[in-house]
Amino acid sequence: MSKNNVQIFDTTLRDGEQVPGCKLNTDQKVRIARRLDSLGVDVIEAGFPVSSPGDFKSVVEISKIVKNATVCGLTRAVENDIKVAADSLQYAARPRIHTGIGTSDSHIKHKFKATREQIIERAYKAVSYAKSFVEDVEFYAEDAGRTDNEYLARVCEAAIKAGATVLNIPDTTGYCLPSEYGAKIKYLNENVKGIENAILSVHCHNDLGLATANSIEGVINGARQIECTINGIGERAGNTALEEVVMVLKQHPYLNLDTNIDTTQLYGLSQFVSDSMGIYTQPNKAIVGANAFAHSSGIHQDGVIKHRATYEIIDPKDVGVTESAIVLTARSGRAALAYRAKNVGYELTKLQLDEVYQKFLEFADRKKEIMDDDIHEIIEHSHLYREIISA
Ligand code: KIV
Ligand code: ZN
Repeated sequence: MSKNNVQIFDTTLRDGEQVPGCKLNTDQKVRIARRLDSLGVDVIEAGFPVSSPGDFKSVVEISKIVKNATVCGLTRAVENDIKVAADSLQYAARPRIHTGIGTSDSHIKHKFKATREQIIERAYKAVSYAKSFVEDVEFYAEDAGRTDNEYLARVCEAAIKAGATVLNIPDTTGYCLPSEYGAKIKYLNENVKGIENAILSVHCHNDLGLATANSIEGVINGARQIECTINGIGERAGNTALEEVVMVLKQHPYLNLDTNIDTTQLYGLSQFVSDSMGIYTQPNKAIVGANAFAHSSGIHQDGVIKHRATYEIIDPKDVGVTESAIVLTARSGRAALAYRAKNVGYELTKLQLDEVYQKFLEFADRKKEIMDDDIHEIIEHSHLYREIISA
């Protein structure tokens, strides 16, 4: 059975860059955009052009250099925003305007002081106006996660009638449970008139740590675009992490869902974004964290040394990590010590290993992690040193 393609819409440079202290200049944004294009993302959301002259310039420059991906600019459902976005995208080979409005009762009442019908009218007008500049228009229903499904379906129908090619269903506040979000996407797929003419897109925030799970439930239920960021950076607790959703789909082939991402570039790009933004990636971050392929307990190390897949569901090379790490701590066993000693040039017999291992434990109880230099020192101070080096 051929796989269904899921489009990857990267918003590192828009939603991701909204993180306090992570502001990028145009040069940095252009460098990241070039690498996203090479990674194989389908859409790059380059910025919110009306928000500042700097963001406008970034979208212009990114539009000039991106070769394969669609370049997208965000707007509110406001004519001037849309006009400015269209100007900023004038050099893009494949431009997209991403416009929308809040649709939950809370947004309608408190943000817009409007009625549900007025919001539908504004959504229709915004998409129609965007359509007068570009063919590809994505509509977002902000806070769709907390919008009642019947009303959301009516908003989506209006956006499709006005010409929207993609319907973004954001869980803006990261509130939905995976089953609830999946059911929302299924409902829209089954109840929105004209849905066959548009792609449903998932855009999930991570306030309850559910962004990846919700995005995956969304595509299982019929969405065909995922909006995400490198390292999951974004407002508050962040957005869906690109590397996570891509690897979930790759590691679960029976889902029959595929992306165009060259996964071997994931680790390098994660580091590049983290360095450019000056934002540290937590060591236990899935896929790209420093410990994602590191093994430190004796039982796990023994298993991985015998057969990597015993404790690893991903081959580190598939995401651009050279190899798994066997980290030596006081919890490590003989197999790990023998393995690391061999890597630095010592082939230990069972007897030699017994002696060196006792010394190693004393050392490891004093130090958090035993490095290659420490292994040399431990072995050089063992009684069997001469015998070991002459072996
Ligand atoms: O989270 C959200 O709702 C957004 C929209 C502006 C697309 O980022
Ligand atoms: Zn968002």
